[in-house]
Parts: sequence; structure tokens; C-alpha cells
Amino acid sequence: MQLKIMPKKKYLSAGRVPLVLFLCQMISALEVPLDLVQPPTITQQSPKDYIIDPRENIVIQCEAKGKPPPSFSWTRNGTHFDIDKDPLVTMRPGSGTLVINIMSEGKAETYEGVYQCTARNERGAAISNNIVIRPSRSPLWTKEKLEPITLRNGQSLVLPCRPPIGLPPAIIFWMDNSFQRLPQSERVSQGLNGDLYFSNVLPEDTREDYICYARFNHTQTIQQKQPISVKVISVDELNDTIAANLSDTEFYGAKSSKERPPTLLTPEGNASHKEELRGNVLSLECIAEGLPTPIIYWIKEDGTLPINRTLYRNFKKTLQITHVSEADSGNYQCIAKNALGAVHHTISVTVKAAPYWITAPQNLVLSPGEDGTLICRANGNPKPTIGWLTNGVPIEIAPDDPSRKIDGDTIIFTHVQERSSAVYQCNASNEYGYLLANAFVNVLAEPPRILTSANTLYQVIANRPALLDCAFFGSPLPTIEWFKGAKGRALHEDIYVLHENGTLEIPVAQKDSTGTYTCVARNKLGVAKNEVHLEIKDPTRIIKQPEYAVVQRGSKVSFECKVKHDHTLIPTVMWLKDNGELPSEKRFTVDKDHLVITDVSDDDGGTYTCMANTSLDDVSASAVLRVVDVPNPPFDLELTNQLDKNVQLTWTPGDDNNSPITKFIIEYEDGMHEAGLWHHQAEVSGTQTTAQLKLSPYVNYSFRVMAENNIGRSSPSEASEQYLTKAAEPDQNPTAVEGLGTEPDNLVITWKPLNGFESNGPGLHTKKTKLYF
Ligand SMILES: *[C@@H]1O[C@H](CO)[C@@H](O)[C@H](O)[C@H]1NC(C)=O
Ligand SMILES: *[C@@H]1O[C@H](CO)[C@@H](O)[C@H](O)[C@H]1NC(C)=O
Ligand SMILES: *[C@@H]1O[C@H](CO)[C@@H](O)[C@H](O)[C@H]1NC(C)=O
Ligand SMILES: *[C@@H]1O[C@H](CO)[C@@H](O)[C@H](O)[C@H]1NC(C)=O
Ligand SMILES: *[C@@H]1O[C@H](CO)[C@@H](O)[C@H](O)[C@H]1NC(C)=O
Ligand SMILES: *[C@@H]1O[C@H](CO)[C@@H](O)[C@H](O)[C@H]1NC(C)=O
Ligand SMILES: *[C@@H]1O[C@H](CO)[C@@H](O)[C@H](O)[C@H]1NC(C)=O
Ligand SMILES: *[C@@H]1O[C@H](CO)[C@@H](O)[C@H](O)[C@H]1NC(C)=O
Ligand SMILES: *[C@@H]1O[C@H](CO)[C@@H](O)[C@H](O)[C@H]1NC(C)=O
Ligand SMILES: *[C@@H]1O[C@H](CO)[C@@H](O)[C@H](O)[C@H]1NC(C)=O
Repeated sequence: MQLKIMPKKKYLSAGRVPLVLFLCQMISALEVPLDLVQPPTITQQSPKDYIIDPRENIVIQCEAKGKPPPSFSWTRNGTHFDIDKDPLVTMRPGSGTLVINIMSEGKAETYEGVYQCTARNERGAAISNNIVIRPSRSPLWTKEKLEPITLRNGQSLVLPCRPPIGLPPAIIFWMDNSFQRLPQSERVSQGLNGDLYFSNVLPEDTREDYICYARFNHTQTIQQKQPISVKVISVDELNDTIAANLSDTEFYGAKSSKERPPTLLTPEGNASHKEELRGNVLSLECIAEGLPTPIIYWIKEDGTLPINRTLYRNFKKTLQITHVSEADSGNYQCIAKNALGAVHHTISVTVKAAPYWITAPQNLVLSPGEDGTLICRANGNPKPTIGWLTNGVPIEIAPDDPSRKIDGDTIIFTHVQERSSAVYQCNASNEYGYLLANAFVNVLAEPPRILTSANTLYQVIANRPALLDCAFFGSPLPTIEWFKGAKGRALHEDIYVLHENGTLEIPVAQKDSTGTYTCVARNKLGVAKNEVHLEIKDPTRIIKQPEYAVVQRGSKVSFECKVKHDHTLIPTVMWLKDNGELPSEKRFTVDKDHLVITDVSDDDGGTYTCMANTSLDDVSASAVLRVVDVPNPPFDLELTNQLDKNVQLTWTPGDDNNSPITKFIIEYEDGMHEAGLWHHQAEVSGTQTTAQLKLSPYVNYSFRVMAENNIGRSSPSEASEQYLTKAAEPDQNPTAVEGLGTEPDNLVITWKPLNGFESNGPGLHTKKTKLYF
């Protein structure tokens, strides 16, 4: 018999026929209700590579469901693990999970090994992955004597880290003895192996505490290497006394540290090879020495680096490509270059792949006499081999079942009988790993049942999709029909979609979609029905939105938000500031339709959002509040270019309080004649911060500046320093001069006095003088 796989969605045919869904074999497996007999399914297990903390009890997980409830057993290193014989090991009741009590006594190392759990009932046996248990290790550095290193300015240097091999591997970093990270740069950086590389050293690299630390993440411990002392001598310092103390090689090295082209410190040679697994991050590294410090470039021979997946780390000394695939295989080249030359190195990269799924097998529920297939399709590099097991036993040595035929990655079942029920394992493996899948074949004769609760009420907002569920079970697989209303009213074709899980979708629900819907599941063993109800609601809307507001500091602002909603839904209206909570201050008050903020402060500026949520939908509207004020006064007034008749005044503007400064007003005070009185001197545009001021002679000047914006004028700045201009001849003659003789030999001359400002000098204050002849 031929197998048919129905499309995922079935659009309903035209006409006044009820909706019917015929399912032959579903693409996604049906859940078998747990009251029905079924083989075990593993629901939880520990990771394949399980690194445990040796200071805690070991818990190896294995949970499974099935009917009858499965019983559990374990193998360790391939042979039966007899739990009853080990007093430290217990199995959690109703589960297969092992707890090994090493806290009281015992050692984690004793329990290293490969564990596998089997969950078994009368219908079959499911098996877990091979769980490899290894205690984490954070060993100490072996004691070593580290000689101080002395070298000359410009030489290259590699400080070895060589951390002890831990599990999982340590994270390496270099610090000084006060736990400060050592600075890294193009010249000095840590390599992938943890060593610290100097392209060339400088006298400032001299320190006695180069310390490599290894952090073992798993156990939260940090181990420390002995400090390394480095002394860098500059050329001038290298005198006979020190030279005498250096070994020959050091001495030779010290003498030879001139400018030089790059050479690679790592990797060695001009070519190397690197293998990485698909999906991982490929990290390639080149570190060069030389003077001046070389710069590293990367290219891919015959290709380009994938823009989106390429990262540079460690001052471009490390190239990373994320999510590698086979297409990233090829030759990568690094080039180290300085003013004196270049050197390159080619790394040929091969990307391999642990197995990955194309099609993992799915549970099969069949009724007696039916047919079915299990497909196990995986890819990898090299191509994985597929091994089948049944109930945990390799299929080649398992009891024969005439209803099944193996065809590579597929098992074909024909005319199954109840005894064909079993769990099949498919193991796709290559040298880089394996994938193990359990899938059962459950042969059942079961009338239909509907799992969605009866009279479920669905509430949906108008013009949105409505999904009415009809989760079902039955064997053979039932057909599903949907009806509207009590008595099979026909459903119009275009507006309905029937999903293979029985769900009826109304892509655009309308007010008239309201009503009762019935789904009917039918197979040769019976019929089941279920009614559900659909209600369509008006959408929630904001009919009056808050609006952009500009207010002066200290004043009050109000935002409006009027919400319209379906009368059966009760919205909660909430205000947010900058997508967070409103400040909990008394100045903020919220009533039905408004948010009011009094005594607005600078911090209140931001975006205010009104959000109305109902159980079915949510809407929001936002507005920005800008808080403005007159500018803050200018400051830092300074007088420069002090000349007799002019001076330059400069200042720093204060905050413009969110409204641009339009102009600056400069005032002066004559401290000598009219102290305390400020007069207008000049105005300049709001973009200027200097002004040339014309001066009169013999005035003890001081100046102040005010800033103005659209809101108003700032208070005055502090007064500038005083500036006394020199006395000079008056610029003006006195006016209203009159001469009259009061006596025969005299002439009394009167005039309108010049004010102090016009007089240009001391002593011209009288308004009357007598001249004698
Ligand atoms: C299981 O095998 C590993 C590797 O051969 C060994 O180290 C370990 O001690 C074995 N575990 C037990 C409990 O025998
Ligand atoms: C799957 O097969 C591979 C290769 O034979 C084997 O190493 C691995 O342990 C198997 N996995 C399981 C869970 O049996
Ligand atoms: C360190 O451990 C934490 C949790 O234990 C984990 O989230 C983190 O990724 C680990 N970091 C590294 C570099 O392994
Ligand atoms: C050589 O240099 C060292 C350190 O800079 C100094 O202490 C010593 O006096 C110098 N010796 C001579 C002979 O200049
Ligand atoms: C020479 O080496 C000795 C021993 O390593 C050391 O004590 C001494 O300070 C060194 N002298 C100079 C001048 O560096
Ligand atoms: C790599 O170095 C070897 C000798 O060290 C040399 O024969 C070979 O030509 C070099 N290859 C390239 C590509 O430079
Ligand atoms: C990079 O990523 C963007 C979006 O993540 C994608 O649209 C684009 O096609 C990618 N480019 C390449 C070269 O993969
Ligand atoms: C049935 O399938 C549809 C479409 O994939 C999905 O939206 C819906 O949630 C499913 N219903 C159930 C009960 O799983
Ligand atoms: C309202 O809905 C939004 C978006 O779904 C959600 O982030 C927010 O927490 C909801 N607020 C309330 C009060 O339920
Ligand atoms: C001008 O003002 C400065 C500062 O107040 C003062 O020291 C100085 O004596 C004044 N000069 C005259 C001539 O008043």
C-alpha cells in the first residue's frame, strides 16, 4: 500500500459541504494520551559530555514516560551497573535519575565512566545517550624556578604561561600582583595558548610581577603561576658591569636589537593546518615580532572573508569566523608587515562536521494492518553511518519482525500487528560524534477522542485570526470535520483553513464569525464531537493621543490619553516614561484620561507613553516632553587685548536649557563714578562668545554678560575683573558755554558739566571757573 503525506495546510473546497480533513500520516507526530498503552519515551537526560563538580553529589538524569510506567536500568562502561550493590548510589523513585552521594564519603573519580540509561515497559525499551561523566579538575601549577629575564630595549619576548591541564580548560589572563590586568596592545598581547607575546620590549615593560592566572570556571577557582620578572635595559644603560652579568646569548641578543622586519613568533614555519567542526567558531592566530611593531592582515586565498561572520580579536592577531561550514574550508593567509618588510603564513583550514539531522525519526501510531515508515536521515563530514537498534539491541541480532524491512536510512513497516510495537533507535555517527534518536511504533486500535476541553471559549479581536483547536487522538488516525452552529451550517471556503492538528483557522475573524463551532473526529471504531465558542471583540483604540509638549521648568504639563474599548473588556491604562516606570513622585498624577506633571524639572524631559492593555490586545501612544528655561548665566569672563580704547571680552555660555541662545547682552559698570549702576554696552549673536568692546578713557570698567533665548533672559554673569582706562583729553567740548563779566577784570565762564564718563580724566568736575586778566 502506498503512503501519502498530506500537505501541512488543507484549503477547503468550495460548495456547501462540511469541512473534512483526511489525514493519512501526519508529518509531526501525534501525542499519545498517557492513559493509553505506549512504549517509553525519554523526556530528560544529562548531557553527553557531563563534567561534574567533584565537591557535590553526582546527579545523572534519566526521565521517561510510558504506559505502563517504565522501569529503569543503567550500564556503566558497557556493562550492567548494579545500583543495589553500591550503597552510595540511589535511583529517584518513579524515575531513572541516579544520585551518587559522594559528599558523605567516596570520590568523584571512582565514578568516572560512560553511563547509559534504559527505560523499559512491555511495549519496548528506549535508551539514553552515552553520558560521559568526568569530574572537573583545576590542578595547581607545578612548582618551578623562574629566572629573571633581562633584555635590551627593542628585543622580542614570549612569556610562557603553560597552564596545568584542567577540565574544562582554564581561562587565562595576565595580571600584576595587585590583580590589575596588564595592558595589551598591538605590541604586547596574549596568544590563544595563554603565552604573553611582546613584538618588541620597551623600558616601561620592566616589572617584577608578570603573573599568569588560570581561572577554572567550573569550580570557580583561580590558580596562579610564579611571577616572572622582566628587566628591559635601554641602550645607554648597557655598560660593562651589566654586560658582564649577561649570558652570551643575552649579550648577543642585547647587542642585536635594531630595527628589523617582522618574523612570526607563532605559528611556526610558513604554512600550517587547522581543522574545525561545522557550526563552531574558527580561530586563526598569527603573532609577529619586529621593530617597529608589525601590523597583521588576513586574506582568504581564492575568496573573500565572510563579512557577517568575521571577527578580529587581539589587535587583528586573531581572525575568527563564526558558524563555520564546509564552504569555509580553504587557505587563509596572515601577513605581518612593518616599514622594513613583510612575512606571511598560510593556514589551510578543513571544516569537518559531526552528524546533524536532516530528518529525525518520529513516533508512529498505527492501527493493526496499517503501514508506516521511520526515516533517519543525517549528514556530516565524513558522511555518517546509520545504525538501527530495536529496544536498545542492534537490529541485526534483535528478534525478527516480518512486518519490517530495513532500507538504509528507512525502516518500512507493512501490515503491522500489535506485537510490532517497539522503540527503534537510530544512531548516526562519524568520527566526530553521534546523534541518537528514539522513535516508537505503537500499534493501537482506538476510537477517536477529542483532547480540547468542551465548550472552550475563544475571544478574538475583530480582523485578527481566530484559531479554534480540536486536538484529537485515535487509531487509525481519525478524519476531522468542522461545522458552524448547532445544525451543520456550511462554512464558506475562502475564509477557513484547517490545520493538520485539527485546528480551524479563521484568518480574518469578523463580528459575524461569533458563534458555536463543532468539530467531529471519526474513524472506523467510532465518532467524537466537541463544541467550542467564539466571540469577536472590538479592538482597543486610543482616540485622543498625548501630544508633544514644550514647557518651562517649574510649570505644569498635562498629557491626554483617551481610550475606546469593547464594553466587555476592561483595559488597564498605564503611563510609562522612557519605556520604564513613572517616577514615584507626588508631582506626577494620573487620572482617567490624563497624566499631569507639576513643577516640571529638567529630569522630566523624555518620552511619555500611554499604554492600554486588555486581556486580548494592547495599544500605546507616546509623546515627547521638552523642558525648557531661560539660559543659565555665562561664566569665566576674561578680558584680553587690553588697549586704551578697546578690549576683548570672552565668556563661556551656560546651559541653554533646551532652547538655543539667541543673543548675549553685555553691560558695563563704571566703578569709579557710578559704582553699582549697570549700563548697556553691546549685544552679540547667540553663537558668539567674544566681543570687541569700545572703551572711553578714565573709566574703571567692569563687565557682565547675560544670555537670552526664546524663553527669556538669564540672570547676569558674575562681573569681570576691573579695567581702568587711561585718562585722555576730553573727546567732547563742554556745551552751553557762556562767558559773563562779574567784575571789570574778569570773565565768568559757565558750561554744562561733562559727566564723569565724558570727562576722560580727573579734575574737570566744576561747572564754573573764574578767569582773571
Ligand atoms: C570506565 O572506563 C574509564 C575509561 O577506561 C575508566 O577510567 C573508569 O575508571 C571506568 N569506570 C569504572 C567505574 O570502572
Ligand atoms: C553510536 O554509534 C557510535 C559509533 O559506533 C558509538 O560510538 C556511540 O556510542 C553510539 N551511541 C550510542 C548512544 O550507542
Ligand atoms: C563560566 O561559567 C558560567 C556559568 O557557570 C557560564 O555561563 C559561562 O559561559 C562560563 N564561561 C566560560 C568562558 O566558559
Ligand atoms: C652600569 O649601570 C648600572 C645600572 O644602570 C649602574 O649601577 C652602574 O654604576 C654602571 N656602571 C658603570 C661602570 O657605569
Ligand atoms: C648580576 O647577577 C647577580 C646574580 O644574578 C645579581 O645579584 C646582581 O645584582 C647582578 N648585577 C647587576 C649589575 O645586574
Ligand atoms: C616555505 O618554506 C620552505 C622552506 O622553509 C620553502 O621551501 C617554501 O618555498 C616556502 N613556501 C612558501 C609558500 O613560501
Ligand atoms: C549579512 O547579514 C545580513 C542580515 O543579517 C544579510 O541580509 C546579508 O545578506 C548578509 N550578508 C552576507 C554576505 O552574508
Ligand atoms: C495547530 O497548528 C497550528 C498551526 O501550526 C498552530 O497555530 C496551533 O497552535 C496548533 N494547535 C495545537 C492545539 O497544537
Ligand atoms: C501590556 O502589554 C505590553 C505589551 O504586550 C506588556 O509589555 C506590558 O507588560 C503589559 N502591561 C500590563 C500592565 O499588563
Ligand atoms: C579700580 O577698581 C579696582 C578694583 O576694585 C581697584 O583696585 C582700583 O583701585 C580702582 N581704581 C580706581 C582709580 O578707582
